[in-house]
Amino acid sequence: METEKEFRLMVAPLQGLTEAAWRRVHFDMFGASQGEVEYFTPFIRVEKGEVRGRDLRDFTSELNHGINVTPQIIFRDVAEWRLLVETLADAGAKRIDLNMGCPFPPQVRKGRGAGIILHPEVISEIGEEMKTYAGSIEFSVKMRLGVKDPSEALRLADIMNEMPLRHITIHPRTAAQQYKGELLLDDLAVFTSKLNHPVIFNGEITSPKDIEALSSRYDGVMAGRGFLRRPSIFAEYLAGREMNAAEIEGLWLHLIKGTASELEKRLCGVAQLRDKMKPYWEYAPITLDKKIVKQGRKQ
Ligand SMILES: Cc1cc2nc3c(=O)[nH]c(=O)nc-3n(C[C@H](O)[C@H](O)[C@H](O)COP(=O)(O)O)c2cc1C
Repeated sequence: METEKEFRLMVAPLQGLTEAAWRRVHFDMFGASQGEVEYFTPFIRVEKGEVRGRDLRDFTSELNHGINVTPQIIFRDVAEWRLLVETLADAGAKRIDLNMGCPFPPQVRKGRGAGIILHPEVISEIGEEMKTYAGSIEFSVKMRLGVKDPSEALRLADIMNEMPLRHITIHPRTAAQQYKGELLLDDLAVFTSKLNHPVIFNGEITSPKDIEALSSRYDGVMAGRGFLRRPSIFAEYLAGREMNAAEIEGLWLHLIKGTASELEKRLCGVAQLRDKMKPYWEYAPITLDKKIVKQGRKQ
């Protein structure tokens, strides 16, 4: 009997935003109504030859208890990759996501994030290493279509098809585009036609209708900035009912207040808390009263 393929819902990693405190409060608010959602940590990196402790703690934090969280890593070569994977395996990770999409020029220049797209030989070597973790760790990839040219990823299709991957998440832009500009959907279609892994679409998802439209073309979606602005988006999609602006604003404010009180327990003083909370206000619902947003930023 053929079973219907599940459509996967994922929360994007965003440094300084979709982190443990926010994730805990979000999950406590929506966990029961949003099905099997998978959250990803912002990338965990190697610094001065060691895995950065602060990054790692976002995965090992007790705040993640009971939440489906996959750690993400960023690396430039097999040595960094192995150090990160071994450290995460020791910390209990059963799944790891590989960042091949970060567009930040200093990372890209060093061959990390999207920069690794230009190094198929490194990806191929990592693909072979991955096979030694069969049965203990599952891997996935999050990537862009290229650094400057969206055809750059095409050279990786055969290599990636040989890699044991749960899925490939694709943000259909080049690194040069950063987070703005046209989504390169034609280039995405060419690339995905060559892939044999499940494909997760990531980019500019802002409403349950967007998810609906993507559901017949992809194996899942990953939402980032749109998810921050509308934290109920997956719950709304699954319930088949769109909330009104006032409902969304109320939930957003509740989530932000909850995140702040969770962080307050861990940070030292008002200034630190204000700095940590500021980025969330950049992703307030667009309908939220500007006076509330202005006040929130200053708190
Ligand atoms: C502030 C910020 C931080 C981000 N941090 C990460 C990260 O750590 N790892 C990653 O793979 N992508 C990161 N991204 C990219 C997002 O995960 C996502 O791919 C991008 O925002 C496009 O999706 P969206 O249009 O749904 O936001 C970040 C994006 C922003 C704006």
